[in-house]
Amino acid sequence: MYNLTDKQIVLGVTGSIAAYKAPDLASKLTQAGAAVDVVMTESATRFVAPITFQGVTGRRAYHDMWDEASEIAELHVVLARRADLMVIAPATATTIARLAHGLAEDLVSLTALATQAPLLVAPAMDPHMWEHAATQANVATLRSRGVSFVGPEEGRLASGQMGTGRMSEVPVLLGAVRNALGRGGNLTGKKIVVSAGGTREAIDPVRFVGNESSGKMGFAVAEAARDRGAEVVLVSGQTALPDPYGVDVHRVRSATQMRDAVLAACDGAHALIMAAAVADFQPAEPVGEKIKRKGRESLTLHLAPTPDILAEVGRPQGLVKVGFAAESQDLVANAKAKIESKGLDLIVANDITASDAGFSVDTNRVLVIDSKGEQEEWPLMTKYEVAWRILDKVQRLFEA
Ligand code: C5P
Repeated sequence: MYNLTDKQIVLGVTGSIAAYKAPDLASKLTQAGAAVDVVMTESATRFVAPITFQGVTGRRAYHDMWDEASEIAELHVVLARRADLMVIAPATATTIARLAHGLAEDLVSLTALATQAPLLVAPAMDPHMWEHAATQANVATLRSRGVSFVGPEEGRLASGQMGTGRMSEVPVLLGAVRNALGRGGNLTGKKIVVSAGGTREAIDPVRFVGNESSGKMGFAVAEAARDRGAEVVLVSGQTALPDPYGVDVHRVRSATQMRDAVLAACDGAHALIMAAAVADFQPAEPVGEKIKRKGRESLTLHLAPTPDILAEVGRPQGLVKVGFAAESQDLVANAKAKIESKGLDLIVANDITASDAGFSVDTNRVLVIDSKGEQEEWPLMTKYEVAWRILDKVQRLFEA
């Protein structure tokens, strides 16, 4: 159902100290429903044992091209044929050079040469090796053949040096894998704008009116849309979450900034999904200097309404619009009223008084109402699953 479920992934592991992160990647991919076949170079086995991969994937990990005891004849051919995606993480400079030159000297480069599946490479090496003209030329060659790269990133390396050469962390790699598998998915060719997180309305230079939104629901929608092949623009208010891989992220602060960013992003968009907790009111006259306590008995804040973004967007080129309603009372009546006032196709309502749904947690229990008033109550599920099902509905609206 989701884009990793039942997918066959070949994970190639080569000889870099960053190989210590590879079992975690293999484990997370397996937990997400993929069947993961690990192939390793001999030098990779000096850093991590094949048995470690076997433990987390439940499948044999291979490193010997000449393994006569293997139950599969022509191992590389079998693995290469059944793969939906091959990921090499970490990829050393040597492996990148082998890939660029079509050399097949070990099980990783052999399988990479034999497969027609998309190839995703996560380099890990010393900064000088990464910057070397030979490596850069090899990377350019591979890119021109359609190979995708994730990282390397800048930071502290195992040698203690600072520079570019760190392998991307597992959550980033997972995003890149999902992104790669999402290409050609059923939202390909669609531009989807998503908003997430809470806005902050300035009272003075250091204080603001804010809310409890974590941004998790909107980020899950952006990721799920990416995983189905959509071009995604994420307009994010306040959140601690990192930018999702492969998503165009615009960070904003206030409701007014969010309005401007959302309106600009909606140009050419097919759907707008507003999961952000936008402030309904903002301080009417934000003060330029920090407000002092001294000499005051009390302080009254005057609030003025913010622009209603969903209502203001209108329906350029038949834009599909989805709103969210976080309610603590009269859930259905309030949600239905919002469909009318904001001109929505769907509203996703949740009762924020439940502890396993709504703000901050990873799960949600929602009620979905469409513009005809039809209601569906969905059981408790992860926010990613909720996002996936919302997108099923959006996709049906595109088809209608
Ligand atoms: O009216 P209320 O804030 O409850 O509506 C919630 C829905 O409307 C959410 O989808 C939210 O992102 C959106 N909204 C908006 N502009 C506002 C306030 C909320 O688009 N100023």
